[in-house]
Amino acid sequence: MRAVDIIRKKRDREALSAAEIHHFVSNYTKELIPDYQASALLMAFFLNGATVDETVALTNAMMQSGATMDWSDLPGPKVDKHSTGGVGDKTSFILAPLAAAAGIYVPMISGRGLGHTGGTLDKLESIPGFNVNLSLPQFRTMLKEARCGLIGQTKDIAPADKKLYALRDVTATVESYPLISASIMSKKLAEGIDALVLDVKTGVGAFMKTLEDSKRLARTMIDIGKGMGKSVVGLITDMNQPLGNWVGNSLEIFESLETLKGRGPKDLTEVSVELAAHMLVLGKISRTLDEARQKVHELIKSGAGLEAFRKVIQMQGGNPKVVEDYKLLPAASKQFRFHSISSGFVAGIHAEKIGIAAMLMGAGRERVDSVIDHSVGLQLHKKIGDAVNAGEALCTMYYNDEGRLASALELLNSAYLISAAPVKAPPLIYEVLD
Ligand code: URA
Repeated sequence: MRAVDIIRKKRDREALSAAEIHHFVSNYTKELIPDYQASALLMAFFLNGATVDETVALTNAMMQSGATMDWSDLPGPKVDKHSTGGVGDKTSFILAPLAAAAGIYVPMISGRGLGHTGGTLDKLESIPGFNVNLSLPQFRTMLKEARCGLIGQTKDIAPADKKLYALRDVTATVESYPLISASIMSKKLAEGIDALVLDVKTGVGAFMKTLEDSKRLARTMIDIGKGMGKSVVGLITDMNQPLGNWVGNSLEIFESLETLKGRGPKDLTEVSVELAAHMLVLGKISRTLDEARQKVHELIKSGAGLEAFRKVIQMQGGNPKVVEDYKLLPAASKQFRFHSISSGFVAGIHAEKIGIAAMLMGAGRERVDSVIDHSVGLQLHKKIGDAVNAGEALCTMYYNDEGRLASALELLNSAYLISAAPVKAPPLIYEVLD
């Protein structure tokens, strides 16, 4: 099999076989196929698309390029959740402990933030001492003893994706449904899970801005999951405004802990409960979604979810006292209240601009090597649909550096839309696909 023949076949819109895709990906990973040939194949996929079989084969080949986990010795369902990323998206810290408390093993491997969206690992690292870089034996101990571990991508997982993603970035081939889906699913399925709940965000603060695009991405990932013998459901959830009321690393850990204590905001609680409930149904812990929702609410009420998170924090080296004493979390030194200049109803809170404002204050990364300030961020006092008076605070900014605050404020000035007429809040969940 020659790489050039595989490229030509794909260029001429013929479907590639699983063996051809496997050959190409495995030899590219071993550096036996050069970047220029891989670039040509990526462009052929970008321009000509891929069949479901090709997308499944690509995912499988990328997954097989590295280590895959096997939890078959652990007696219970292994289910995870993947979010396509948003602003204020902190559901992992709520649903992973809740699912673990319900009897599900959650081997969650996450990423860092880049641009306007925050990263799960950065948020976890705002907990003093929390270690996201566990070895595989340590991760196994986490799962055995806490039924949940929250770690970062290791270099052994889907190395083909790492190489191909870097190449896509510089060859204008990122925005392709099969390539995005294979990239995400190769990493998630390497976790050795039986089932996966996808949280595909839609709206101005999401990777996919329209409902149609979000559904197409969800459908492609669901097809891959099914093709690889896994149960997958996809929830299309709103990202036109931030999720919850807090944005920023330690601030989001605080809000997650409050939600596990039953004191979270309605939107964050509802999305987290819904995602967790789907995990329980896929893991066959509950027979119906209603039964699962009830169980999740009970686990919040009894404090079992909070205890599960405390255990994860403790076992991963974090200070478990943060659960009660929020003063142990990093806190910014200054606050600034951002006021509305007009009266009316909040009609828009541009999630992407809020995310970039938080990033400019230091909560996120402008570049991969930017240093994060775990303490800074924003608290939203109003959400879409809320009434507001002129002079009332729309949000409070928690910051350390006046210069950074000034850049964030420039963005905030155009992030809010106030209308004279009442406005309805957008739906939280648009559709559930399976
Ligand atoms: N996230 C990924 O992991 N891969 C992509 O291709 C896009 C987003």
